Amino acid sequence: MTRSADLLVGGAFAPNNSFQPKASPTRGRRYLMSTLPTTDIRPLTWHFACEVTDVPADGGACALIEGRQIAIFHFARRGEWYATQNMCPHRQQMVLARGMIGSQAGEPKVACPFHKKTFSLQTGACLSGEEYAIETYPVRVVAGRVYVGV
Ligand code: FES
Repeated sequence: MTRSADLLVGGAFAPNNSFQPKASPTRGRRYLMSTLPTTDIRPLTWHFACEVTDVPADGGACALIEGRQIAIFHFARRGEWYATQNMCPHRQQMVLARGMIGSQAGEPKVACPFHKKTFSLQTGACLSGEEYAIETYPVRVVAGRVYVGV
């Protein structure tokens, strides 16, 4: 099914486009670690989110996909891309795309710009020692375009 995404940060409108994945990776789905499922077998659809040039190197942008604000990060220093929910679970602020990215013991993370709680970009776990977690989504970059699996 073809779906559209509206880029909220970066200024471009994303036209309809999608393709099917080869595999369905697992994804976090809850805000509290205690409720994270051990497996996620829901089908995955790849949605066009934005152009590579819409996301600043070592920064983030937000795209609206399937009614969800999704933060997309280009971790240029590591040559990696990540996607998470844009809402910080601490105070339910839509700000994570504006967070600072970095590494903690080799694990890529984003720090919320409000109160600096940090979250793994790989697992969504809170790395600040609290029982928060964020959703993470798989990302593919194909021919200069960024796709997010939702
Ligand atoms: S709102 Fe993100 S850390 Fe408080």
